[in-house]
Amino acid sequence: MSDQSLPRRTAAVIPAAGRGVRLGPGAPKALRALGGTPMLVHAVRAMAASRQVSLVVVVAPPDGAHGVRYLLDEHALPERTEFLVVPGGETRQESVKLGLDALPADVSAVLVHDAARPLVPVDTVDAVVEAVRAGALAVVPALPLADTVKEVEPGAPGEPEPVLSTPVRSRLRAVQTPQGFDRDTLVRAHERVAVSGEGATDDAGLVEQLGAPVVVVPGHEEAFKVTRPLDLVLAEAVLARRRANDAF
Ligand code: C5P
Repeated sequence: MSDQSLPRRTAAVIPAAGRGVRLGPGAPKALRALGGTPMLVHAVRAMAASRQVSLVVVVAPPDGAHGVRYLLDEHALPERTEFLVVPGGETRQESVKLGLDALPADVSAVLVHDAARPLVPVDTVDAVVEAVRAGALAVVPALPLADTVKEVEPGAPGEPEPVLSTPVRSRLRAVQTPQGFDRDTLVRAHERVAVSGEGATDDAGLVEQLGAPVVVVPGHEEAFKVTRPLDLVLAEAVLARRRANDAF
């Protein structure tokens, strides 16, 4: 922030207040187990694994902050990292804003990471932090697409939908998290959108609406979002492979 005497810390905000209905019935998505450990705990560990991240703010379901605090206390987490839990809001955007509101003054760089991306490797986290520290205002990890993408006129479920256009695939990227930001830029983006009422499906999208530059760095295939039941199968397989590799 503006006081140069303050140390420059990096914090991670993890919105984890969603219900995850696309995953099927059951506990809120962030609390579903992966390899016997709640997805949220994996996501928190993934952020705390970076030596550059000294604070992790978890945004819990509005009525679940105590439960999430208890969950973090129950699981082993690095001692050098500080953890805060705050209640979330109705939308992801509101939840992120509530997480930003809880940041102490000495935080100058912020990562926003979905609890639903529990397996992002630490090298990806570090690459995002480094790009922010090097001066980028907003940094997004992303991968090229395997599928061709069509823009359609959305119709009723199951009905054929007219195709409007086919964007050039080589220019498209599928974006992941953690997304990294200069704190003041992200706070301004959230304040502006709270006034304008326009939303975005990711935080970098809000910064784009400010007219500020956003850059992409390479993402990682293990940073995929656990959204549907098949993603849980893939996540279990990735964890099993990591455990087998660690055993050697
Ligand atoms: O629903 P979706 O997969 O896009 O959610 C992305 C992330 O935002 C998840 O980690 C989810 O828990 C979080 N979220 C939130 N508050 C909401 C809705 C979603 O923190 N009200």
